Amino acid sequence: MFFERHGGGERAILVHLEGSNPEAAEDPQEFQDLALSAGADMVALVTVSRHMPTAKFLIGSGKVEELRDLVRESEAELVIFNHTLTPSQERNLERVFECRVLDRTGLILDIFAQRARTHEGKLQVELAQLDHMSTRLVRGWTHLERQKGGIGLRGPGETQLETDRRLLRVRIRQIKQKLEKVRSQREQARRGRRRADIPSVSLVGYTNAGKSTLFNALTTSEVYAADQLFATLDPTLRRLELDDLGPVVLADTVGFIRHLPHKLVEAFRATLEESSNSDLLLHVIDSHEPERDQQIEQVMAVLGEIGANELPILEVYNKIDLVDGVEPQIQRDGDGKPERVWLSARDGKGLELLRQAVAELLGEDLFVGTLRLPQRLGRLRAQFFELNAVQSESHDEAGDTLLAIRLPRAELNRLVSREGLKPQDFLEQHTLQ
Ligand code: GTP
Repeated sequence: MFFERHGGGERAILVHLEGSNPEAAEDPQEFQDLALSAGADMVALVTVSRHMPTAKFLIGSGKVEELRDLVRESEAELVIFNHTLTPSQERNLERVFECRVLDRTGLILDIFAQRARTHEGKLQVELAQLDHMSTRLVRGWTHLERQKGGIGLRGPGETQLETDRRLLRVRIRQIKQKLEKVRSQREQARRGRRRADIPSVSLVGYTNAGKSTLFNALTTSEVYAADQLFATLDPTLRRLELDDLGPVVLADTVGFIRHLPHKLVEAFRATLEESSNSDLLLHVIDSHEPERDQQIEQVMAVLGEIGANELPILEVYNKIDLVDGVEPQIQRDGDGKPERVWLSARDGKGLELLRQAVAELLGEDLFVGTLRLPQRLGRLRAQFFELNAVQSESHDEAGDTLLAIRLPRAELNRLVSREGLKPQDFLEQHTLQ
């Protein structure tokens, strides 16, 4: 692996830049949270105004000196900027500070690397890291050279640098090939699910909203049946059994972060794509968070970027245990359709309501019920089997076939009308209204 992961407890100074445009400004609290989750041990948070930016350091040279002194005093090992730095700015700052400097993209990449759970997600992150790294390679070697030091020990020099660039290119090519393979496997699995018509539901939401907690709360009681479709053993996909409706696939995704650099959105297509192919999105929202509305907007903006904002969305207001006077409930729109569920993933209060709301929304387009087919409709019976829509079959004394089926309502209507009939003509039992 090309990258050393900085383990917990690295002493870090955080540098927050105050911009003139408050819209584009980053949130210092969120910055601290991000640094903390990357494993930094914050020794100081320094706010710098951008009144006199310099191309060489991004910040004014007076501030650079101040920071250099602070690095020495506090024995910091790392300075993290809540802003994007060019490779040369990073390099220049490192020279003055004599310690590593990380920018916002590097920080987010680090967190993503820790959180990526799927094989594809991990590969995507590594690719983004390599990409980020390739423009910064020169600096990497300057470091190594300094470490080696010593008389008679030649620095890596250009030859070494060339070798390293070649290795980097080889690694990038390998990852791209692996990604291709994983993608086609995933596509196959998805096609399999579609054939069997298992609806898929994705959890999306701002980082820290409680997606994983909800994912676990909904699925821990589920028996994880060895299922061919889940052969890839993706820990972010689980089968969930809903009353009346049957099985659905539940997918967890990475949390969204404000001002996610565009190339990182690309790096996360793996998990995000899963959501753009879903039948329903559960948008998990931290109801206790003061910045809740801005977070909702951010998530919707990212969903727009991957073309998933047209999908049906059910809002899940989580953490109601932290909000006074809010009870678990389903909120409905003018047509009586569930649009918001209030619950606590931690306490498990309201989980049943969520299951019910999901079943209602998915059930709208799904027919689940039993048909009584006379023998002459053998062709229709065969078509249900072809579509993998049959759940069970039995026969009565009269020779009729009782077929428990589950398939999209539109599909049922299409098949039945080809026989010149309507589903009501032989409906035995209807589970979903
Ligand atoms: P990312 O992985 O960053 O996207 O976060 P996430 O959305 O998966 O959030 P996660 O499930 O990791 O939860 C974030 C924090 O919120 C954890 O400390 C949880 O224990 C806490 N949390 C989740 N659900 C609830 C809840 O219903 N009530 C309370 N009080 N805390 C919760």
